[in-house]
Amino acid sequence: MAKYIITGGKRLEGTVRVTGAKNSILPILAATLLTTKEVVINDCPGLVDIEKVLGILRAVGCKVKQEGSTLIIDPSTITTCIIPDKYVKEIRSSIIFLGAMIARTGKARVTYPGGCEIGQRPINLHLSGLKKLGTDINDSHGYIECEGSNLIGADIHLDYPSVGATENIILAATAAHGYTIIRNAAKEPEISDLQAFINAIGGRVSGAGTSTIVVEGRRPMYGTEYTIIPDRIVAGTYLTAGVITGGEVLVENVILDHIQPIIAKLRESGAIIKASGTSIHIKGRERPLPIYHTTTLPYPGFPTDMQAQLMSLLSVSSGTSVLVETIFENRFKHVPELIRMGANIRIDGKTAVIQGVERLKGARVSSWDLRGGAALVLAGLRAEGQTVVENIHHIDRGYECLQSSLKKLGADIDRVEDQQ
Ligand code: EPZ
Repeated sequence: MAKYIITGGKRLEGTVRVTGAKNSILPILAATLLTTKEVVINDCPGLVDIEKVLGILRAVGCKVKQEGSTLIIDPSTITTCIIPDKYVKEIRSSIIFLGAMIARTGKARVTYPGGCEIGQRPINLHLSGLKKLGTDINDSHGYIECEGSNLIGADIHLDYPSVGATENIILAATAAHGYTIIRNAAKEPEISDLQAFINAIGGRVSGAGTSTIVVEGRRPMYGTEYTIIPDRIVAGTYLTAGVITGGEVLVENVILDHIQPIIAKLRESGAIIKASGTSIHIKGRERPLPIYHTTTLPYPGFPTDMQAQLMSLLSVSSGTSVLVETIFENRFKHVPELIRMGANIRIDGKTAVIQGVERLKGARVSSWDLRGGAALVLAGLRAEGQTVVENIHHIDRGYECLQSSLKKLGADIDRVEDQQ
C-alpha cells in the first residue's frame, strides 16, 4: 500500500487548478448509455473511481478512448445488461448504471453494492423510484434483476433527497412514456450537470437544482462534446489546505455558487477570501478561529464531503467548535487518527466537539476513507514534524496528483509506494 510522508509547518503559497468533478463524471458516464452516438467528455481527471467506471463501460460493450483528460466514448453497441460484480464491489456508485442500463436495454442486473467505510449506503430509494416507473425488480441471492422495457412516467416523491436515487430515477425516466416528476429531489450541482449533459444529447430534463425535477421520456438521443463542472470538494480541500497552513493560495476553475457553503465556513474561521470570475484567492490566519456550530446537510447546506477537512482545520483553532454529521452514520473514522496527532476531539453520536489545540504533532496515521484521508493530509501539513499517512489508495479515488499539486504550493510531501 502507498503512503504519504509529510513534514509540516510550511505555509502553502501559489496557484492550483481544479479539474472535473468525480461525482459529476460518474453519473454522466452512465448517461452515455442513453445514446448510440459518440460522446466526447472534456476535463476528466485521472481518478481510480473513474478508471473503474470506464471499465464498466468497456465491459458492457462500449468503446472508450482516453486522450489526456478527454474521453471519447462510442456507446453504439451494448453487448450485455449485466454490470460486472467486480466493479460493483470496488465502486458502489456503479449502482447508477441501473437506471441507464434499463433505459438503454429494458433490463439490468447488478449485484448488491453493499456498504462502505462511511456507512450502510442503502439503495431502497433507488429501487422504489425505479419500481414506480414500472420496473419489475427481483432482488434475491444478492443480485438485483430489473425488467423495465415499458416504463411509464410517474410522480415520485423521495423520502430523502438522495443524490444517487435522484440520478438513477432521472436516467431511467428518459426512457419512460410521458413525463416523470421527482419531488424532494437532491439539489446538488452534480444533478444539474447530469441534467445539462442529458439535454445536450437530446433529452429534456428540467428543474435540477430545485426540489422538483421533470423528465420528458423517449426523446431521440444524439452525440455531444461536453465539459464537466469543476469539483467543488477538491476546490474546498485546496482552499482548506491554504487556510490550515496560514498560507495564501489561488484556486482556479471554480464555480463560486457551488462552493458558497464551504467558503462561508472558511470565512468564519477568519480566512480572507476574494473571488474573481472562476478563481478564489484565500489567505489563512496564523491560527484559525473556532466555528461555533456546523451541521452537514444536503446541498446547499454544508457538504458532508468537507466535514473531515473542516475538522482538521478546527482541531488547531483558538477555541471550541461543534461539528454534526447528519448524512452518513459512520463518517468520523478520521477522529482517532487526528487524536493520535494531538487533536482534542470528543464524539457523542453524530456530534463532534473539537477543542482547538496550539499545535498538532506529526504521527503515523491511517486513511480509512476518501475524505478522511484528505483530512489527515491537511493535518499533516500543519503538524510539527513528520506525518505518515498510510492506505492512501482511498485518497487516489477522488484526488488526482494530490501530492504533486501540494508540492507545487510549497508542501513538503512525498509519496512512497510500499514494496509488495
Ligand atoms: C453521493 O453519494 C456522493 N457520491 C457522496 O460522495 C456524497 O457524500 C453524497 O452523495 C451526499 O452528498 C457520488 O456522487 C458518487 P445519498 P450517494 O444517496 O448518492 C441515505 C465522496 O466522498 N440513502 O445522497 O450515495 C444514505 O444512507 C462521496 O465523493 C438511503 O437511505 O448519497 C445516506 O445516509 C462519499 N436510501 C444519505 O441517504 C437510499 O436509497 C445520503 O445518501 C439512498 C441513500
